[in-house]
Amino acid sequence: MTEPKLVVQNITHSFRHRGQSLTVLKDVNLNLYPDEFACIVGPSGCGKSTLLNIIAGLVKPTSGNILIDGEVAPGPGPDRGMVFQSYTLYPWLTVAENIAFGLKLKQIPKVERQARVAYYLDIIGLTRFANVYPKQLSGGMKQRVAIARALANEPEVLLMDEPFGALDSQTKEQLQEFFHDLWEKTHITVLSITHDVEEAVFLSQRIYIMGHRPGTIRDQLDVTLPPKRVLDIKLTPEFFELKRKVILSLRNTV
Ligand SMILES: Nc1ncnc2c1ncn2[C@@H]1O[C@H](COP(=O)(O)OP(=O)(O)O)[C@@H](O)[C@H]1O
Ligand SMILES: [Mg+2]
Repeated sequence: MTEPKLVVQNITHSFRHRGQSLTVLKDVNLNLYPDEFACIVGPSGCGKSTLLNIIAGLVKPTSGNILIDGEVAPGPGPDRGMVFQSYTLYPWLTVAENIAFGLKLKQIPKVERQARVAYYLDIIGLTRFANVYPKQLSGGMKQRVAIARALANEPEVLLMDEPFGALDSQTKEQLQEFFHDLWEKTHITVLSITHDVEEAVFLSQRIYIMGHRPGTIRDQLDVTLPPKRVLDIKLTPEFFELKRKVILSLRNTV
């Protein structure tokens, strides 16, 4: 049997709020398998970002563990790459310099760094924009660069928090298709969070459904669509049926 790449083990988390303890996550468990694309779907405020920050090591949970390849993950590390909803590129660096940023920190030699940057620029289709600054890019292009920056570090797992949430619907769909292609080419292990049911069905192999008060995984669903997906799949009865299942499941969790 395949061992999971990432295990979320009994995560419970409380914030202190006005002197009171607010339990945001309770007994969250999930497994993410190698090369799998999984999504967590849940209503706003159910604790999705908190969970992703805990998985990334940015927030220390009240209890529970995050395991990578069976070992307890220490704080944040390059094994977990992160892409956020808002644009987080460094405005004073060019596209190529943004992608190279983590590689420089890791003291990867210049020749290899340049090769990796060129490779990921090509993958995101922005080779021509290597020397451009983020302010000259559209929102969709910025998110492609943010994805390339995370991938250039060759993380074990890519974590994404509503990565297409700030984009208009057309750009969002283009990027979903782009990202699906990229996942097919690179076979990275991805855990993405969204409140967008259609996005979750389109992108993932498995969907975890989160409910709130306290936030926990209430249900899961295997996405039985073919692995190769283009936007037209959204118009098929199979797609619609999966979407319906997720929507009903979300309703039951509220
Ligand atoms: N740093 C914090 N301190 C106190 N409460 C927080 C903090 N961060 C998030 N929360 C609360 O935790 C709950 C879950 O937030 P969040 O993880 O951002 O949800 P989601 O990403 O699903 O919208 C919300 O009620 C939010 O107000
Ligand atoms: Mg959030």
